[in-house]
Amino acid sequence: MQTLRDELRTVPSIVGTAPDFDWASTPEGPRDFFLGWLRDALDAGVAEAHAATLSTVDSDGFPDARLLIIKDVTDDCGFKIATSDESAKGRQLLHNPHCALTFYWSPLARSVRVRGIAQRASATESAEDFLARHPQARAIALAGQQSSVLVSDTALDQALTQAKAALAANAVATSPQWAVWKIVPNSVEFWQGEPNRDHQRLRYIRAGSTWDKQRLWP
Ligand SMILES: Cc1cc2nc3c(=O)[nH]c(=O)nc-3n(C[C@H](O)[C@H](O)[C@H](O)COP(=O)(O)O)c2cc1C
Repeated sequence: MQTLRDELRTVPSIVGTAPDFDWASTPEGPRDFFLGWLRDALDAGVAEAHAATLSTVDSDGFPDARLLIIKDVTDDCGFKIATSDESAKGRQLLHNPHCALTFYWSPLARSVRVRGIAQRASATESAEDFLARHPQARAIALAGQQSSVLVSDTALDQALTQAKAALAANAVATSPQWAVWKIVPNSVEFWQGEPNRDHQRLRYIRAGSTWDKQRLWP
C-alpha cells in the first residue's frame, strides 16, 4: 500500500515557469523589483497575487503566521496591510512589530520574502481604509473580536446585527480598533525557481538610505 510519504514524494513541486529575467541588471532597490514581479504575476493572471503570509511573534516568543492581502506598496517600499487590533496578528504587532511577509506566485515559480518592522498608520489613514471596505467586511470588523473564541452562532449574529444597525445609522462610522500597518523592510529576498534546481536568489539589505545586494546560494 502506498503511504502518504510515498505519495507526497511523487507530487511535483516548483512546477511553474519563470519568465525570462536578467539578473545582471536588477534595480538598485527592492521596490521596483517587487513591483515588476507583482506586475508579472497580475498580468499572468495569478490568482490572488496580492496575498502574502504575514508572520508575527506572540508575547511568549512563539511565531505565528496567516495569509492576508497587501493593500499597497509605498514609494519608500513600505508594504501596507490592515487588520483589527483585537485580532491575534493585531495584538502581536502591537506587542512586537518585528514581522515578515512571504509571497508565492506558483505559476511563475517566484517567491518574495520581506523581513521588517511594522508601523501603525495614522487614525485618519486607518479610517479611510475601513470606509473603503465592503459593507459586510465593515460590519464584521465593527463587530470586532476577530480571532476570539466563538461560543455560539447566536453571539455572532447578534454582534453583526448590532454592527449593521450602527452602520445604517451612520454611514461613516469607523472602528478605532481598525488599523493600517506599514511594514518597513530591513531585507527583501527575491527567489526564482529554475528547472535544474539552480534557483536564483537575490537579497536586498537596507544600508541606511540605500540597499546592499547579495546573491545567495540556492
Ligand atoms: C487568501 C486569503 C486572504 C486573506 N486576507 C485577509 C486579510 O486581508 N485580512 C485579514 O484580517 N484576514 C485575511 N485572511 C484571513 C487570515 O488568514 C486569518 O484567518 C485572519 O486574519 C485571522 O488571523 P489571526 O488570528 O492571526 O489574526 C485571508 C485568508 C486567506 C486564505
